[in-house]
Amino acid sequence: MAENLIAPSILSADFARLGQEVENVLAAGADIVHFDVMDNHYVPNLTIGPLVCEALRKHGVTAPIDVHLMVKPVDRIIPDFAKAGATYITFHPEASEHVDRTLQLIQGEGCKAGLVFNPATPLDVLKYVIDKVDMVLLMSVNPGFGGQSFIMSALDKLREARAIIDASGRDIRLEIDGGVKVDNIRAIAEAGADTFVAGSAIFGAGKDGDPNRYDSVIAAM
Ligand code: DX5
Ligand code: ZN
Repeated sequence: MAENLIAPSILSADFARLGQEVENVLAAGADIVHFDVMDNHYVPNLTIGPLVCEALRKHGVTAPIDVHLMVKPVDRIIPDFAKAGATYITFHPEASEHVDRTLQLIQGEGCKAGLVFNPATPLDVLKYVIDKVDMVLLMSVNPGFGGQSFIMSALDKLREARAIIDASGRDIRLEIDGGVKVDNIRAIAEAGADTFVAGSAIFGAGKDGDPNRYDSVIAAM
């Protein structure tokens, strides 16, 4: 079983102080930076692009950056994120015309590739491309916003994804995204996740800018 990783979603960070916010959560024990990219087309919200990813690298962030693309089309933005310092790039199969090609594009750019499944999207495509997948990200909310409630059917889906990943024998991370809190993270881990995105649960604990306020919530996860 892979090491469990905590991935704060910067969607809930204070964007006016983003570099410091990311430093603070990493110092508090977070492992990777979850970077939500929304285009006001595939999802009804608009966030950040490669410039901000590059700015975090220039600021000195060396932790892995986990770029979650909620954009359509996906392919043309991938080289820009690779140049900007992305470690993982994940995308929704519904947003790609050719899923296998997009996975190859990401890996060809030197990044790790992942597929994201919305709450009502079946895992079917996974078996056909599993040899090109480094991460499976299950959405436990509908994508677009932080601060939503965890959709319980994601637990059964995690078990299903865990079985597929284990049967493949490949080193694939199983990430969960949406509504992850201190009080449900154990059940989510037991269902098979090893990488936990948490936005409002982490950044909501430190809104006054006191970095120490992140320590206790990350330690409890
Ligand atoms: C939603 C994003 C999530 C979101 C999670 O579309 O993909 O990463 O920021 O936020 P919380 O943890 O608040 O549900
Ligand atoms: Zn996300």
